[in-house]
Amino acid sequence: MRIAVVGSGYVGLVTGACFGDLGHEVVLVDNDAKRIAALSSGEVPIHEQFLPELLARHRGERIRFSGDLQAATRASEVVLIAVGTPATESGDADLSYVESVAREISGGIEEYKVVVEKSTVPVYTSQWIRTIIMRDGADPAHFEVASNPEFLREGTAVTDFVYPDRIVVGVESERAAAVMRELYGPLTSGWYYGRADAIPRPEAASGKGPPRLIITSTKSAELIKHASNAYLAMKISFINAVASICEAVGANVEQVRDGIGTDSRIGPRFMNPGIGYGGSCFPKDLMAFRAVAKESGYDFRLLEEVIRINEEQRHRFLRKVRSVLWTLRGKRLGVLGLAFKGGTDDIRESPALLLVQELLREGCQVCAYDPAAMERAKGVLPAGVEFAADAYAAAKDADALLILTDWEEFATLDLEHLLAVVKYPIVLDGRNLYDPTVMLENGFSYYSVGRPAALTEEVRARALPRKRERA
Ligand code: UDX
Repeated sequence: MRIAVVGSGYVGLVTGACFGDLGHEVVLVDNDAKRIAALSSGEVPIHEQFLPELLARHRGERIRFSGDLQAATRASEVVLIAVGTPATESGDADLSYVESVAREISGGIEEYKVVVEKSTVPVYTSQWIRTIIMRDGADPAHFEVASNPEFLREGTAVTDFVYPDRIVVGVESERAAAVMRELYGPLTSGWYYGRADAIPRPEAASGKGPPRLIITSTKSAELIKHASNAYLAMKISFINAVASICEAVGANVEQVRDGIGTDSRIGPRFMNPGIGYGGSCFPKDLMAFRAVAKESGYDFRLLEEVIRINEEQRHRFLRKVRSVLWTLRGKRLGVLGLAFKGGTDDIRESPALLLVQELLREGCQVCAYDPAAMERAKGVLPAGVEFAADAYAAAKDADALLILTDWEEFATLDLEHLLAVVKYPIVLDGRNLYDPTVMLENGFSYYSVGRPAALTEEVRARALPRKRERA
């Protein structure tokens, strides 16, 4: 099919590249001429596994780049809107980009096509897009608006696109449903997975058949997106709250998570305790969902608690660092991780970055390393923060080493080498990447989230009052 994708950010670029790989003819439209030029010349502006391969495979043939949205609309059967919907001050989603794109699309509608909202938008948005396009003169018989929310995780977005648990399509007519079925046909028919050059099947999708296409109303599809992200964020805040209780009573949250996660109704995924969730989606989507609920007359206070626990998680970790080091001012901290999670260069709402900013306010010296996010972090962090070439350089002469992002490479450090470079053998792990006994065996005092601290003898001795004082 001939399709247009509007917006070449994390969602738009991955969506366009993957639809090209499914066999469609894609025009990727963006109003940022520099970005279009960079994409056309072969640059890949975001850090996503397999994206460079897909763009190299199809650039100039199946995937073209353009700044002319009306021409792209005119030439397409499906136009997917994948522009940003950032949070406003009050937490509502800012839909002004969606609106300006809808106005432009209106001028390109001369024969039937489906306009798809791919961006995460509040319920009713599809109705607004329809109203705007009609107001600007398009014939209502020549278009329909569908909702097709994405469930892409950063860092694994390409894999998540071609191996989705499900595809959700919200439509108001069978005609639009047929167009969307054809769009996703290469996946739902299983044809794509038979291709020799298909994106590799991930472990989590092994043995699964082709994805289901779930057809709903547009409003239900819009709500599915918000409810999905809110539920996932709730799972994270739930296990983080349980981790805090484990710390209070001396239990081990990883054991508790395994014990509850083996209940097939609960499941172990998305229950990794840590310094909390971040990213460009969960924080924004939760506030948008809460605002949508309030507007419709429902006071969704559960979401407020999910947000509060998430904030509190970071403050608890800062208190833990202070309790271990006694005073923070002037202390040298090695920091591993600045991205909001491993596998991405994105620092938006990153708990790691927010913690570093709080530690700097406390007067700490910070030497940070992140495999992908340092360039972006340099644009946000104040001068004076040191950036290291690798984990061991970040740990050099550190009073303590903090692990704040779950990069694979931080879970497999050479502990002997690490012990040789730190000033004190103290590790505070905000992502529970290590087994405490392994850290102890390697001479570290190890503090993590929701588990008892593993203290080397001398640290334990220093922590306990002297015998004679006790007598
Ligand atoms: C999320 C949703 O997973 C995805 O479906 C949606 O389309 C976009 O938002 P993303 O934000 O890219 O994806 O990353 P995700 O892997 O969900 O992680 C979000 C945050 O939660 C990260 O900060 C991560 O570190 C944290 N997290 C995740 C936890 O703290 N514990 C977990 O168990 C899982």
